Amino acid sequence: GGGLHARAAAKGLAFGAALATRHLAEADLMAAFRADCGLLVAEYEMKWAELEPQAGNRRWRRADQLVDFARRNRMALRGHTLVWHESEPRWVSDLSARGAEAALARHVDETMQRWRGAIGTWDVVNEAVAPEHGRPDWLRRTWLLNRLGPDHIAQAFHIAHAADPAARLAYNDFGVEHATAWSRRRRIGILTLLRALRASGVPVHVLGVQAHLHAGQPFEASEWRAFLADVAALGLTIEITELDVNDRALPAAAAPRDAGVADLVRRFLDVTLAEPAVRAVVSWGLTDRHSWIREGRLAEHRRRDRATPRPLPYDEAMRRKPMWAAIAAALDAA
Ligand code: G3I
Repeated sequence: GGGLHARAAAKGLAFGAALATRHLAEADLMAAFRADCGLLVAEYEMKWAELEPQAGNRRWRRADQLVDFARRNRMALRGHTLVWHESEPRWVSDLSARGAEAALARHVDETMQRWRGAIGTWDVVNEAVAPEHGRPDWLRRTWLLNRLGPDHIAQAFHIAHAADPAARLAYNDFGVEHATAWSRRRRIGILTLLRALRASGVPVHVLGVQAHLHAGQPFEASEWRAFLADVAALGLTIEITELDVNDRALPAAAAPRDAGVADLVRRFLDVTLAEPAVRAVVSWGLTDRHSWIREGRLAEHRRRDRATPRPLPYDEAMRRKPMWAAIAAALDAA
């Protein structure tokens, strides 16, 4: 019985969700957060572009509101994310290599210091493995990679560890969960990166698995179990960091759509939670009302007379969906 975090905590796990500052005023959503979440991550407000829109102009206020909400409600926090090619401030690209190195080091240090002791795990680097792994350069061609070379990844972790030696440092990525050739290549790329980092003594402690699942794509328990075991064998723990389900391949009607989403989430979590190295499950929001999948794709869905995406545990009116029950059942069975 009880909320999702209570069920997770009974098994030594944590359950939480992403939250954007602008939604703190929604009483129904906040009630669900307090009922279900023991962990919170900022959907947007802790990204570099948001924290330092102009060089030296640090903007902490929105993120501080989320940290205060978590503290008041005795929730733990994940930090997301220090280095990500999609959230670099525009001014960084005007810098020399040395300027960029200094700006990156200062950003990592200042940000980690601000919430030192309040944030348990930081996503230090997000999505560095090239989307189409298989090329020799399995690292994504980012501005920082071109400017500073692959060592900027190790550098970021070393600076983060120096800034807060108690924080657990994560590498976070997506596209590994399904039984497809693309995901298999991405699993190899991510394991290659993690092995290289660990072999050179880089303080990376956690693999963040985003788990933006796709209903309709195959999921193979034995493959997934083996990947998680390979990551655990490197001495890393694992956190599911952005769980949601892109349901566009499912029938338009809500009932079969919700049932298909719940079935995939249950199968995924049953295998995932069987791995002892897995320590937390975080969904990328709690309610369909605010899912990022609606923002980018709603227009596309509507244009093609597709149903509105229903990727999260609660619907627009904050009613629990079969996905909520699937998460609860998987936690109870863990
Ligand atoms: O809040 C600002 C607003 O003040 C401003 O006027 C407006 C116009 O620029 O932008 C608003 O910010 C938007 C923000 O979402 C609101 O939360 C940004 O434009 C928009 O880019 C941002 O999108 C976020 C995206 O990451 C990029 O940061 C999504 O909410 C968020 O769900 C998405 O999350 C990512 C994870 O970080 C990494 N994994 C993939 C995942 C989905 O893309």
